[in-house]
Amino acid sequence: MTERAVHVFSSSADLAQAAAAYIAEAVTQAVQSRGKATVALSGGSTPVSLYQLLARPPYQTVIPWDAVHFYWGDERCVPPDHPESNFGQVKQALLDHIPVQEERIHRIIGELEPADAASNYIRTLSENGDNDNPWPRLDITLLGMGADGHTASLFPGSINPGEKIFPAIAVTANYMGRPASRVTLTPLVFNTSRNIIFLVTGQDKAQVLSTALDGPHNPVNFPVQRIQPADGKVIWFIDSMAAKIFMKESNDND
Ligand code: 6PG
Repeated sequence: MTERAVHVFSSSADLAQAAAAYIAEAVTQAVQSRGKATVALSGGSTPVSLYQLLARPPYQTVIPWDAVHFYWGDERCVPPDHPESNFGQVKQALLDHIPVQEERIHRIIGELEPADAASNYIRTLSENGDNDNPWPRLDITLLGMGADGHTASLFPGSINPGEKIFPAIAVTANYMGRPASRVTLTPLVFNTSRNIIFLVTGQDKAQVLSTALDGPHNPVNFPVQRIQPADGKVIWFIDSMAAKIFMKESNDND
């Protein structure tokens, strides 16, 4: 069963600190237990301050980075040095500042045609499966949420049949003028994660967050509800602006 925890912070700086501490602990535990940690990172603006924090002491030195395998939950189909590249963002904010081994960076090749980038990523995932899993069983999956309820590149309105068959798919979706051609991991992979961390900030997400957390099950219109790891934890790190309606409704129901 999915274990859920929701943590609310008064500032996004406190939220980033708490998420960094959680990640440091989970990575260290994974490396101690299994000799490596597998981490899937997110795009969007919310995680940037977290990446910058992880790139500085103490996290820069205490996390066993040389045992971490990096994946991405999704990628926009642009070259790696494009300002909208999710890989490029993580490279600049984090990877360039830590002792990471090149062969452990499993990026989605955004400069390929979307279908080719998805096939290439499927191959990478298959080559890195764990004993009991055809794809990596991620120790940590970092996700964001859009004001429309999307997460990674799983968008509302319909469920792509590929989500139930393939570990990664190509999708097209418009959101805030960001690149529309994308490749995303699917719930098949997300839902075997050991720890899923959602980072959500800002008042524009308050309504959808409240519905996603406590509303009726409607995974077509609220893709975040498609994320339910069978045997893992989902930890929500949210700021007080995003939590406004969720907290009001929780208090009203007390
Ligand atoms: C992407 C994402 C996407 C993102 C949300 C939230 O590449 O666009 O991975 O799912 O996390 O859109 O974005 P913000 O953090 O900018 O609100």
